[in-house]
Amino acid sequence: MTRGGDERDAGDERGGDLAALRGADDAVVYQPAEDSGLLAEAAVAEAHGRVLEVGTGSGWVAERITEERGLDVVGSDRNPHAARQARERGVEAVVADLLAPFRADAFDAVCFNPPYLPTDPDNEWGDWMEHALSGGESGRELIEPFLDDVGRVLAPDGVVLLLVSSLTGYDEVLDLVDEAGFAAEPVVEESFPFETLTVLALRRA
Ligand SMILES: C[S@@+](CC[C@H](N)C(=O)[O-])C[C@H]1O[C@@H](n2cnc3c(N)ncnc32)[C@H](O)[C@@H]1O
Repeated sequence: MTRGGDERDAGDERGGDLAALRGADDAVVYQPAEDSGLLAEAAVAEAHGRVLEVGTGSGWVAERITEERGLDVVGSDRNPHAARQARERGVEAVVADLLAPFRADAFDAVCFNPPYLPTDPDNEWGDWMEHALSGGESGRELIEPFLDDVGRVLAPDGVVLLLVSSLTGYDEVLDLVDEAGFAAEPVVEESFPFETLTVLALRRA
């Protein structure tokens, strides 16, 4: 967090040089990867109505949902560089901590590719990329509060699209989903040498 603030200030000092500013942003904003592609595929297939992408990063997933489904998508991210980069793609994006500023029943679909790597507290590195990648010691430190609150912002027939890695503990996430009152259905899944990624569609049980 502290270093993130320093980086934002350094970027802002570049003044009107947008290319340099964008370069600085790329170094501190998660860029689209395999997990982003899987979330986009699932969201394009399952989302409807008003959509929120939590942790939008570069805004690439939100942009794909808009382009391929014509849906209105709001992106949110704790990282102001990410919100700015998403806005540069044409995504309506706000700086927010998870779901805090959004009103009840506001969205028909909520998508989230969370920071999920289990990280030893002694090895936390303290910058915006850590916030994009680290899920704390369990890998589930962002997934837990997200699942606790997502039912509040979700319309009655809404769907949550949540990316889960085998590194995070698939069964443990399913238990949290159940405790939050949702039923889970895998929508897309792909295995890589070190992990299997699944996007779950969550609907009220
Ligand atoms: C793995 S990246 C995913 C980025 C993008 N959605 C994608 O799939 O390419 C996780 C994102 O969550 C954001 N994030 C981390 N903690 C957050 C929080 N408490 N509230 C909102 N966003 C958060 C990070 O800044 C990062 O952009």
